[in-house]
Amino acid sequence: MIPDKTLVGKDVYHAAPEVVEGAHVPNFQKYKELYSQSTEKPEEFWGNIAKEFYWKTPRTGKFLDYNFDHTKGKIFIRWMEGATTNICYNLLDRNVHEKNLGDKVAYYWEGNDPEDCMQVTYKELLQQVCKFANVLRAQGVKKGDRISIYMPMIIELVVVMLACVRIGAIHSIVFAGFSADSLCERILDSHCSLLITADGFYRGDKPINLKQIADEAIRKCRERNFSVGKCIVVKHLGVTEATGATDETCTDRASSNTQSPPAKRSCYNLQTTWNADVDIWWHDLMKEASDKCEPEWCDSEDPLFILYTSGSTGKPKGVQHTVGGYLLYTATTFKYVFDYKPDDVYWCTADIGWITGHSYLAYGPLANGATSVMFEGIPTYPNVSRFWEIIDKYKVTTFYTAPTAIRLLMKYGEDPVKKFSRASLKILGTVGEPINPEAWLWYYNVVGNRKCPIMDTFWQTETGGHMMTPLPAAIPLKPGSATFPFFGVVPAILNESGEELEGEAEGYLVFKKPWPSIMRTIYGNYQRFESTYFKKFAGYFVTGDGCKRDKDGYYWITGRIDDMLNVSGHLLSTAEVESALIEHAAVAEAATVSHPHAIKGECLYCFVTLRDGYEFNETLIAELKDQVREKIGPIATPDYIQNAPGLPKTRSGKIMRRILRQIARNEKDLGDTSTLADGTVIEELFNNRCRTA
Ligand code: WTA
Repeated sequence: MIPDKTLVGKDVYHAAPEVVEGAHVPNFQKYKELYSQSTEKPEEFWGNIAKEFYWKTPRTGKFLDYNFDHTKGKIFIRWMEGATTNICYNLLDRNVHEKNLGDKVAYYWEGNDPEDCMQVTYKELLQQVCKFANVLRAQGVKKGDRISIYMPMIIELVVVMLACVRIGAIHSIVFAGFSADSLCERILDSHCSLLITADGFYRGDKPINLKQIADEAIRKCRERNFSVGKCIVVKHLGVTEATGATDETCTDRASSNTQSPPAKRSCYNLQTTWNADVDIWWHDLMKEASDKCEPEWCDSEDPLFILYTSGSTGKPKGVQHTVGGYLLYTATTFKYVFDYKPDDVYWCTADIGWITGHSYLAYGPLANGATSVMFEGIPTYPNVSRFWEIIDKYKVTTFYTAPTAIRLLMKYGEDPVKKFSRASLKILGTVGEPINPEAWLWYYNVVGNRKCPIMDTFWQTETGGHMMTPLPAAIPLKPGSATFPFFGVVPAILNESGEELEGEAEGYLVFKKPWPSIMRTIYGNYQRFESTYFKKFAGYFVTGDGCKRDKDGYYWITGRIDDMLNVSGHLLSTAEVESALIEHAAVAEAATVSHPHAIKGECLYCFVTLRDGYEFNETLIAELKDQVREKIGPIATPDYIQNAPGLPKTRSGKIMRRILRQIARNEKDLGDTSTLADGTVIEELFNNRCRTA
C-alpha cells in the first residue's frame, strides 16, 4: 500500500497491486455497483447468495418482510420465511460431501502452551459434531431448548455449538471470564436445560478452575429454584474427581478420537468437586455415541442462538439471532471483508464467548470452507512475540484482532515483532472499539510491513456481522475510519431531533433498512428489543454509537453515546457496575464513568458515597474491586474508586455522569451546569480525585 501524498495532511492508503490482483471486489467502482444492487434489490442480491447454500425446502413467504417503524405497528424482520435448512449441514456436510473439503483443516488449535497444539479437519469435525449431537438428543434435548455453554477456547466448544445447531437447540455461550453470578443470571434468564463446561484451563500462567465456577453458578440457580439438569464436563486439564490428582489420560478427548495426531497436553493439578447427580464426563458420553446424525431442518426464521450483551439498565440482554439471515450475512461478510481465497489461513483472536468469535471464528469461516487458527492463550504468554510466532508457525494470511491487543503489544516496541517474518500476512483486521491512528499506523507499518490493508470493522452483537468496513482492494483507507457500509447496509447520521444529516456531519449512527443478520428480538423481552433499538427514532435501528462523516463520505465511529463503556473492546453498562458496588454494605450510592486508558481504550472510574459509620480506605477499595470482579468478572474490575460524599445530581435526582466524567479527567470545563441541584459537591469531588495515569 502506498500513502497518497496528494492529499495534504490526511494520508489515504491505497491497495498495493498484489492485493488488487484477483480480489473479489477489485476497485471502488465495483464496490459502488455491488452496493447499489444490494440496497436497491436486496431480494435479488441476497437471493443469489442464498443459492450457494443448501435449503431443504424453499421459502413460502416473501424473501424479505419487515417493519422498522413502531408508529406503524410492531417491529419485525423476516428473511426467507418458510425456507428450511440447517446451518451445521451447510458448514460441515456440504463442505465435506459437496465441496470435497473433508480432508481440509478446519482448525489449527494452538493451546495456551506453545507445544500444545493439534488440528481438526472438516470430516473429523463433522464426526465429532454428529456424535455430540447424538449425546444431546440422548440427554433429551429437543429443538428450541436452550443450552448454556461455559467453556475455554478449545475445539470442543465449536463441537458443542454446532451440535446444538444440528438438532435445532439454541446455544447460549457465556464467556469463560464471567463470574458465577453472571453465568447464573444468564442461565436463569433463558431457562437453560443443560450446562456444558470444562474442568479448567490456563490463561498464561494462571490456572482457572472453571468447573468450580460452574458449580457455584449451578448452586446459585438452585437457590433461586431453578435446576440446570445435567452438567457435561470436558476433561481439558486432566483433573480427576475430588482428589485433585493429575490424570494421565488427559489426551482422552474428542481430538484424540480423530485421525489427527493426538494432542500433546500438559496435565495440571487442579482440585475439582464432582456431583454424580448432575455431572457427567464428556468422554464417557462420547465413547458410545454414533457419528451419524440426521440434522433437524429449521425455518430460516427459527432462533439460532442467544448471546448476552450489556444493557443500559444493568440487566444483560439476550440478543437472539436466527438461522437463514445469519448464515447468509456472516458467510458473505467473511468472504468479502477478508477477501477470502481457498488457500488462506485465517486467524481471529477473539474468544468464541463474544459475537466476534461466533461470527468470525465459527460461522463465517466454516461457511466458506476456510482454515482457521483457534488460539487458547493470551498475546503475552510465554512472551510478547506469541502472536507473531503463531503467524509464522501456521503461515497465517489474514489476521483479525482488537485495538486493545495492538496497543498492549505496541508497548514492547518493534523487536518482538521483527523476530518473526510475518511474510505470509496479506490482510489485517480490527474490531471492538475505535482504533486510534497511532495504533493503526503501528499495526500497518510494523506488523503488516506496509503491505497489508487494515479492515477496521464496525459492528455489534446486535448486528451479527460487519456493518461499516473497508474491503481490501476496493476502498482506500484512512487510519481510524471504518470507511463505508457493507453490502445491504444503509446508514444515516441523525441529529438529536431525528433529522437525517447530509454531507459532512456528526450525530447518532442509525440504520435505515434491515440486513440479513440483524437481531430479531431480546430473548423473553420483545418490548425491550423494540424500545432499546427502535423507539428513539421512528423508522431506524439505533446503534447507540456516535459517528462522523467527512467530506469524502468516510464514516468515523466516535464511540458510545449511551450509558455504555467499552473496556478492551468489551461492552459494560455503568448500571451493572454500579449495582455490583451498591451490594457492598458500605456503599450507599455509586456512579461509574469511563476514563481513557492507554491499553484498554477505556477503563472504569467509580465514585462511591459511603453509608454512615464506614471509612474510605485501601481495604475498602480492595473489597469493592473484588465485589465487582465477583459479580461480573475480571474484565469489569474498576481501575479507580473515589470517595464521593456527595454526587452531582439534577433537581429530579438523576446523577450527572457527564460532570463526573470531567472530574475523573480533571477537566475543569464542566459545560452546562444549570440543571445541577447542588453545586457545592463539585469542589470536594475535584479535591478527592484519584491520581490517574
Ligand atoms: C464498538 C463487537 C469503533 C461500538 C463486534 C459498538 C467499534 C460496540 C468497532 C459493540 C469499530 C465495535 N470501531 N467502535 N471498528 N467495533 N465497536 O456488541 O461501540 O461487543 O457499539 O460487538 O463496540 O460491541 P459488541
